[in-house]
Amino acid sequence: MIDLHCHVLPDIDDGPTDIEASLQMVQAALDDGIHTIVATPHVNHRYGSEPEAIGTRVEELRAALARDRLPISLLAGAEIALSRLPGLDDEEIRMLCLGDSSCALVESPYTAVGSLMEESLFDLKVRGFRPLLAHPERCPEFQRDVPRLERLVDGGAVCSISAGSIAGQFGETVRRFAMRLLERELVHNVSSDAHDPVRRAPRLRASLSDPKSLPGNAGLQLWMTSTVPVAILADEPLPPRPPIQTSSRWRRLTARG
Ligand SMILES: [Fe+2]
Repeated sequence: MIDLHCHVLPDIDDGPTDIEASLQMVQAALDDGIHTIVATPHVNHRYGSEPEAIGTRVEELRAALARDRLPISLLAGAEIALSRLPGLDDEEIRMLCLGDSSCALVESPYTAVGSLMEESLFDLKVRGFRPLLAHPERCPEFQRDVPRLERLVDGGAVCSISAGSIAGQFGETVRRFAMRLLERELVHNVSSDAHDPVRRAPRLRASLSDPKSLPGNAGLQLWMTSTVPVAILADEPLPPRPPIQTSSRWRRLTARG
């Protein structure tokens, strides 16, 4: 599996504070069956991670991985706040994209942002980038207005939900909304959005195998955690989505509480 969203770099944002904690996160990822991690530190007004600083931290962590013989592929990326996008030129965005792709991971806002969302994502597309929305299931604006997210996806945005969301880590409202987005085929990827080795660890398989998660959908899980990430990192079109298998149990899991 490939984890496209992971705060694994040390001492750069609200992720691990030192390289030992980063290494513990990588070990947890390996134990979970993840072979590639894209390091995605916050680029927002609180953590102004510059592309050069991200590159330096990636090199430091790669050296530590080689020293400890941890067989994982580490790529550079970022999680860009909507409010930072207007101030970034094409070259800066290119440096913040996931790996060598033109895919920019954009954080779904937690507060009302008006038309900035549509304008920013449209602008990214026009400039040749593929927007990947991070955790739309935790965005109050989408929770209130699913068609708004549908229009963004129709316009070319790709959605990545957090594994912890479907395992209930962010509460029942978020979990049920994540399941609804899955059912409406608005989810393309599941990533960890991990921040530490224990509480918010890089675990995809562990969350997807949770009984409250995605029962009977092994094909869809593989598509979201491997097939889609491969296509995103290669700037390829997304392969066809396996149909979701719903059941009476699924309907109980998605019913509004
Ligand atoms: Fe994140």
